[in-house]
Amino acid sequence: MAKLSMARSVSILGATGSVGRSTMALMEAAAPGAFRIEALVANRDVGTLAEQARRFRARLAVVADHAAYAGLKAELGGQGIELAAGPEAVIEAAARPADWTMAAIVGAVGLRSTLAALARGGTLALANKESLVCAAELVLAAARRGGATLLPVDSEHNAVFQCLAGCSPAAIEKVVLTASGGPFRDWPLERMATVTPDQALRHPVWSMGAKISIDSATMMNKGLEVIEAAHLFGLPPDRIEVLVHPQSAVHGMVQYADGSILAQLGTPDMRTPIAHALAWPERMAAEIPRLDLVALARLEFFAPDPLRFPALRLARAALLAGGGAPTILNAANETAVGLFLERRLRFLDIAAVVEDTLARLPACRPEGLEAIIALDADARAEAARQAEARAYAV
Ligand SMILES: NC(=O)c1ccc[n+]([C@@H]2O[C@H](COP(=O)([O-])OP(=O)(O)OC[C@H]3O[C@@H](n4cnc5c(N)ncnc54)[C@H](OP(=O)(O)O)[C@@H]3O)[C@@H](O)[C@H]2O)c1
Repeated sequence: MAKLSMARSVSILGATGSVGRSTMALMEAAAPGAFRIEALVANRDVGTLAEQARRFRARLAVVADHAAYAGLKAELGGQGIELAAGPEAVIEAAARPADWTMAAIVGAVGLRSTLAALARGGTLALANKESLVCAAELVLAAARRGGATLLPVDSEHNAVFQCLAGCSPAAIEKVVLTASGGPFRDWPLERMATVTPDQALRHPVWSMGAKISIDSATMMNKGLEVIEAAHLFGLPPDRIEVLVHPQSAVHGMVQYADGSILAQLGTPDMRTPIAHALAWPERMAAEIPRLDLVALARLEFFAPDPLRFPALRLARAALLAGGGAPTILNAANETAVGLFLERRLRFLDIAAVVEDTLARLPACRPEGLEAIIALDADARAEAARQAEARAYAV
């Protein structure tokens, strides 16, 4: 069994979510002593957080929501685990020394903690793509200044990262991000107009948190990933291709100048890219179902349909426009997805609200963190107004 050569101290931001729980499961299955937990952070799921903190003997457990602190204290008080609450405590937890940090908070609210972890160095495994989308320059500058290593956890970017190993970026012709196509891959537009949150949350391939499940259904997730790839790999948008691949066996590919295409394959299970990031630059054993190529038999690839999935076009346009456009895109999308989950916005209106918000807010170039956070807030307010005009009640 592959063992890591050194024990690692680990902090998990977003420990109670889908990515956070998968990360903890991998550490639990690893050799005893391979990982030590420094800090665990959640928003308000005290039950899961307390159970994780006890099981892994974490040094610190933090809830972002002040109202959840009493519950955390009741669960963990007097057990030798430091406890804290509030957004500032989340940032302090991210800034505590650790060899490896998982950034798995959902949404742009994870930005400050992503920056804090990068500023103190070590390795940051980035699942929280929204922070890179809304503040790419700040995130990359914080990594450079802190001497941090930024590893992609998104399965597509992790796949591309693996396919890039040892090759010169100058030789890259393009990268390919695959998409399962989500639950409505083959639905006609008229039927997509009737989609409910329950239907959209039932992803056919991946098991994920609510927000990314809806993003996958609209394909905004792939749009955010194009922006993420442009910044992680320093590529222009026209060298990042998206292909719908229903089997979800190939996660990402790199095409080189000599015509070679390198691909990374695996079962659609986030534990594989997380294990890659956890062990990097080594490899660790992970009890994940193996891909059965004979049973799989065929691999299909299609171009995405721009009419039924306009989010992809919007994200590419925001990336090309640059400045504050990706921040606006992301904030409007988070707002619209939230309203859809509350049944206050129709499925097809998610992309429409994002488009309207981008059209309403003037082009700008926010300088620095506070300007980005202010733009994010403006975009959320504008998106809420746009959604109000389209609102309906079920
Ligand atoms: N799930 C996947 O397979 C997958 C794959 C690739 C990338 N990603 C990315 O990874 C990130 C997490 O996704 P997920 O599916 O794991 O989400 P999730 O299941 O919804 O979990 C979100 C986590 O963030 C915490 N959180 C929410 N708001 C917070 C706040 N204000 N402060 C601190 N913590 C907060 C939640 O705590 P509570 O539980 O207390 O609410 C939870 O631990 C997203 O950016 C997503 O795009 C996910």
